[in-house]
Amino acid sequence: MRVAVLASGEGSNLQAILDNVHERHNVEVVLVVSDKPDARALDRAAAAGIATATFPLADFPDREARDRAIGERIRAANVGLIVLAGYMAILSSAFVQRFDGMLINVHPSLLPKYPGLRAIEQALEAGDDQTGVTVHYVDEGVDTGEPIAQELLGIGPGESLEQLTERIHAVEHRLLPEVIAQLAFARSNG
Ligand code: GRF
Repeated sequence: MRVAVLASGEGSNLQAILDNVHERHNVEVVLVVSDKPDARALDRAAAAGIATATFPLADFPDREARDRAIGERIRAANVGLIVLAGYMAILSSAFVQRFDGMLINVHPSLLPKYPGLRAIEQALEAGDDQTGVTVHYVDEGVDTGEPIAQELLGIGPGESLEQLTERIHAVEHRLLPEVIAQLAFARSNG
């Protein structure tokens, strides 16, 4: 299964994919796309010998035109799965419809709780005693698509944002590659 990854920042989830499923489990990451030319994710991709492409909004008349260009690049790469791994731009409806069923995202909460930004902060601010990680299909809403996998984490009394963030990231780095491997397995077995 050929895979494209979209990332805007640090790229630690991309790294987890490269370290755990890339070039095994019938998975090959063939393209990493970013909206931010300075994203560390691009360096991680380049270090692994993977093609990269950047699409800053400023280079296009609007978001739809940018997403059309990203779509063309992804089509040319002939991928079967597109993974949003810390991709912080909202994708246009046309893009989501074009790649319906091929787009997945990782989100640091137990969706449908806390979609959008600051999900980890919101769970702490609400005094919740649990949160988690969701991997889900992407639809036209913000973090509203059908969940594929969820993992719950208890929040310790007095746990800091830094501590919880670190534990959530550790779960993301395991869960997202697992889901990708499962999707590749399911496809290879019809
Ligand atoms: C992750 O917490 C992910 O859940 C969220 O953005 C963060 C990206 O981190 N969507 P990284 O760029 O993969 O390190």
